[in-house]
Amino acid sequence: MNRILSKRAAELKPSATLAISAKEKELKSQGVDVIGFGAGEPDFPTPSRIREAAKRSLDKGETFYTPVGGTLELRKAIVHRFAEDYGLMYKVENIVVSCGAKHSLYNIFQAVVDPGDEIICLAPYWVSYPEMVALAGGRPVTIETSESRGFEPEIESISDRISPATKAIILNYPSNPTGVMYSRKFLEKLADLIERKDLLVISDEIYDKLLFDDGRYTPFATIPGMKSRTVTVNGVSKTYAMTGFRIGYLAADSMEIVKATTNIQSQSTSNPSSTAQAAAAEALIGPQTEVIEMRNIFERRRDLMVELVNQVPGLSLVTPQGAFYVFVNISYFLGSKGITGSSDFAAYLLENHYVACVPGGPFGSDEHIRLSFATKEDVIIEGMKRIKTACEELNNA
Ligand SMILES: Cc1ncc(COP(=O)(O)O)c(C=O)c1O
Repeated sequence: MNRILSKRAAELKPSATLAISAKEKELKSQGVDVIGFGAGEPDFPTPSRIREAAKRSLDKGETFYTPVGGTLELRKAIVHRFAEDYGLMYKVENIVVSCGAKHSLYNIFQAVVDPGDEIICLAPYWVSYPEMVALAGGRPVTIETSESRGFEPEIESISDRISPATKAIILNYPSNPTGVMYSRKFLEKLADLIERKDLLVISDEIYDKLLFDDGRYTPFATIPGMKSRTVTVNGVSKTYAMTGFRIGYLAADSMEIVKATTNIQSQSTSNPSSTAQAAAAEALIGPQTEVIEMRNIFERRRDLMVELVNQVPGLSLVTPQGAFYVFVNISYFLGSKGITGSSDFAAYLLENHYVACVPGGPFGSDEHIRLSFATKEDVIIEGMKRIKTACEELNNA
């Protein structure tokens, strides 16, 4: 057999973020003292009320298949959160639960993208969007944003790229990797464009509860006229420190999308884990105090990280308004010691100074690296000390 892999599998790139965590773990297992700024997950343990709910579910014998799109208990809890937090009214029929928000997104792209369809991704974007679109046979159309505008796109730069093949736009705010939170004014202008061009919106709102500076979150579906056009994606991974449970979900007014994504899931994974669903239901329905506590800690870490990055000559950033990453501009160092892009810079940091970060290339900018501040303050201080030394070394090269 001269060609084992399908074209789509052969062309697929592995997740850059997961690859760097693997390398970091490998070095740690060899006893190297690595500072990990690569992680895309909270370092907190899952709150105990949630862990207890998982145990109770097991003890009750809830170990069987559940409905493909999630238990009634969990879907009711999701409906409750949308209503309580944002006044967004969904019925349980509008919710599909999957094995992580990543899986929800995968199902959505499989459900709505035909070969040749164009999906707009705003760069810098989360690494998986273009790959998932391509895997579904679609064409990701990336639109650059500038640091001088805080990574908020200009509406004209989006409208200029809409073609008869454009099907949808994917939004993610606060964003991974930049932490940008779009202004209400921008969201309203975008809604107007979406309406005029008759597009679908996939809004990945996984960091909605990790918003700083007393910011108020605006789900895209709450912008007048947008609920029927929006598929909202969220999950429990980031908000409740539950990355390993693998529970994400979508909410859509369109029953076509609900049915199609459920069918796709029914032919692939079936339902997400019953135990994880019970834990997620408790997470969403119970008291939300830990969410605020974790958010406040992340905000303090953000302040520290931003302050330390700003103390390194040659590095610059746009202060993130949410999520737990800083997207640091390293263009000043390109050309030094044979470093030609973000992967070289990240490799230099890891190999010479034992700091793991994620190169910006796979996020759509080769002039940046992503540092996660989902780690303790003393780790942030030590890691930034090493980065400062590395940058001084490059400056003197
Ligand atoms: C923007 C964004 N969307 C989705 C996900 C996936 O989350 P989950 O762990 O629920 O699959 C992540 C995780 O890194 C993310 O950063």
